[in-house]
Amino acid sequence: MLPEALYKWRMDMINIAVDGPAGAGKSTIAKMVAKDLDYIYVDTGAMFRAIGLYMIRKGVDLSDEQGISLAVEEADVDLRYIDGVQCVFLNGSNVNDMIRTDEVSDAASKVAVVPAVRSKMLKLQRNIASGNNVIMDGRDIGSKVLPDADLKIYLTASVEERARRRYKENIEKGLKCDLETIKAEIKERDHRDMTRQEAPLVRVDDARLVDSSDMTIEEAVRTIEDMIDEVVGSRQ
Ligand code: DC
Repeated sequence: MLPEALYKWRMDMINIAVDGPAGAGKSTIAKMVAKDLDYIYVDTGAMFRAIGLYMIRKGVDLSDEQGISLAVEEADVDLRYIDGVQCVFLNGSNVNDMIRTDEVSDAASKVAVVPAVRSKMLKLQRNIASGNNVIMDGRDIGSKVLPDADLKIYLTASVEERARRRYKENIEKGLKCDLETIKAEIKERDHRDMTRQEAPLVRVDDARLVDSSDMTIEEAVRTIEDMIDEVVGSRQ
């Protein structure tokens, strides 16, 4: 039980949960909403990515659940905000620039099925949400991490549209890629995230659906901010 004063303090915090599949625009959109409303943006995928990076560096076999469970005890992940930007620290070093590769994406999705990894991240995520107004994005935020969130959003887009966006991003970065391969990778990752035993990606009953397939980023931001206005307004 939390002491009464602490509990009251926590109750004043606004927690917004945003879940959805990879490439739906969650982080871009949630980041913009957080900036507009002066909330803290918490990108939980980045935490799993940091753990994935740790396992790659350690040479842990990504199909060895026991090995991952042991190794994760030594991986200290921390989020710090530098000039308003979320930075992920792994054992004291800022790894923000190292966690966006395809190799790390794949590793993150694999380590995310391991219960020891999830329970470590869950504690960290709840801790951040209990002391701040947050907009937190991930896969199990509405279902597991913040089941009492003030607002839950399920943000999605069609596989085709998500693949097209990723393809465009890669081309702009000068990376060689193939649309059909990207589509297949997205489908595979969706499948793994949605069918895993531990905290699968689901749209919970009380989550509001936002399909960004035919929306601009600004339209999606506006839609979500209107929903937040509604719930925050009704709390006052
Ligand atoms: O959102 P992202 O692509 O950065 O997430 C990377 C991987 O981490 C993704 O495949 C699923 C996993 N993840 C998770 O299992 N739970 C979360 N709350 C966030 C991400």
